[in-house]
Amino acid sequence: MTRDDLKALVRSIPDFPQPGILFRDVTTLIGDGPGFAAAVAMLSEKALAAEADVIAGIEARGFIFGAAVAARTGLGFVPVRKPGKLPVPALAIDYALEYGTDTLEIDPGAIGEGSRVVLIDDLIATGGTALAATELIRRAGGLVERALFVIDLPDLGGAGRLREAGVTVDWLID
Ligand code: PRP
Ligand code: ADE
Repeated sequence: MTRDDLKALVRSIPDFPQPGILFRDVTTLIGDGPGFAAAVAMLSEKALAAEADVIAGIEARGFIFGAAVAARTGLGFVPVRKPGKLPVPALAIDYALEYGTDTLEIDPGAIGEGSRVVLIDDLIATGGTALAATELIRRAGGLVERALFVIDLPDLGGAGRLREAGVTVDWLID
């Protein structure tokens, strides 16, 4: 399975969730067994090369890939959650999306001081989500030196923004 094969498994839906947005839908990739397995294997290799101590995934689509990578590599998984879901007082941050605004939260005790966290999400667009997650993990004491995505949307500049925040950014397809 090549990166081009993975790319062919991503469905593109015009005008979702708003007019003018070309939505890159990974549900067709994860619905394909060999495709999902190949994507998780490629991300896992990158996470191991980065000498991660722990994987963090961003709700919701980042949970699918992040948790699979954590299980495959034997690393723990920390969920970066949408608001109001964690059962403990959370660290929270608001951020802007390509289509709207949202909040992310993390359990302040989930990450050991100085642990190397590899951040995983399905897609980086403007980078707002990944930057917010990076800031939260850093506030919780983690080191975020690398972030991995299945898809980069290069026209939206998110990878560059994350790099400016000191994160090495890598992805499987753009
Ligand atoms: C999508 C995607 C990323 C984010 C990328 O999530 O899964 O997390 O947008 O956009 P950005 O780089 O411009 O911030 P969404 O907020 O749609 O939530 P979901 O995973 O719950 O569907
Ligand atoms: N998240 C932000 N922009 C997106 C897009 N164009 N497709 C899928 N998810 C997204």
